[in-house]
Amino acid sequence: MSLRTKFTETFGVEHPIAQGGMQWVGRAELVAAVANSGALGFLTALTQPTPADLANEIAKTRDLTDKPFGVNLTILPTINPPPYDEYRQVIVDAGIKIVETAGSNPAPHLPMFHDNGIKVLHKCTSVRHAVKAQSLGVDGISIDGFECAGHPGEDDIPGLVLIPAAAAQIEIPMIASGGFADARGLVAALALGADGINMGSRFMCTVESCIHQNVKEAIVAGDERGTELIFRPLRNTARVASNTVSREVVEILNKGGQFPDVQELVAGVRGRKVFDDGDVEAGIWSVGTAMGLINDIPTVGELVSRIVTEAEELISGRLADMLEVDDEENVA
Ligand SMILES: Cc1cc2nc3c(=O)[nH]c(=O)nc-3n(C[C@H](O)[C@H](O)[C@H](O)COP(=O)(O)O)c2cc1C
Repeated sequence: MSLRTKFTETFGVEHPIAQGGMQWVGRAELVAAVANSGALGFLTALTQPTPADLANEIAKTRDLTDKPFGVNLTILPTINPPPYDEYRQVIVDAGIKIVETAGSNPAPHLPMFHDNGIKVLHKCTSVRHAVKAQSLGVDGISIDGFECAGHPGEDDIPGLVLIPAAAAQIEIPMIASGGFADARGLVAALALGADGINMGSRFMCTVESCIHQNVKEAIVAGDERGTELIFRPLRNTARVASNTVSREVVEILNKGGQFPDVQELVAGVRGRKVFDDGDVEAGIWSVGTAMGLINDIPTVGELVSRIVTEAEELISGRLADMLEVDDEENVA
């Protein structure tokens, strides 16, 4: 038995499960393991310091899998933007066939991707942005609810409402993102109108994820209350692990501080230190409320097959058992 959806059909993968882009985490070993499990993994383009490094990472991933995988291109409005056009060119030249865009409007990148036969899965955090992306011609939507790690947007609509509200207006394949970690989440997402799920935090806490073991153990030890929303007053909210650094950032900004007042605290180099050295208090690091559902550090293969097997059992067992045949239906 397997779960077939519009998402698996359109993106050519076995299971309706994706591993979205993750800065510092979405590297070859993890993405190849996700691909080998039959789910859809995305390398994170901007984790690679240069476009040439991305080309190497794509080649490295191909050495580890012959299954399809994609690349995440996070387009953030920054003062010194990375050379997006060059990263895009590398993606095209490498023959990648699926891209996850996120961060802002994907329009400037769509013609080149589509001209080269690349399918675009756009990740966004509101129904209006999903509808807009659909009208621009993207091939799929990943709708990211308030529960998610990283940037949940400013509307604070959790998946229970966001997913069916989006499903009512989205006709192209749509996966649900934010707060998913197990089979119950997958089945719930399908029931809410999605064609699959995207997970970040859950994949971060697997054997093949390249981050320090201490971080994985902190996720297992943590619960659903273990995150902070930083940059809220700046309207650039990010959900990160609650630690002394993130709590200080929240406090400074709540008191009217501005970005320069927290710049040193949120520096990327400090966040990287967390993942490389395992000091979970060294800086800010992304994780979502799904932390409350993550209780182990399995291999990616074990995780995906567990989610799929349990989802099938849930649908054909517990849920099917709830269906009571009416007396009238029994009448021949
Ligand atoms: C460590 C980490 C880094 C992330 N970095 C990015 C990123 O660079 N670009 C992006 O589009 N999403 C990023 N995300 C968000 C994930 O792709 C995904 O949308 C999110 O984790 C889903 O929520 P979940 O963690 O509850 O599964 C990141 C998530 C994590 C946990």
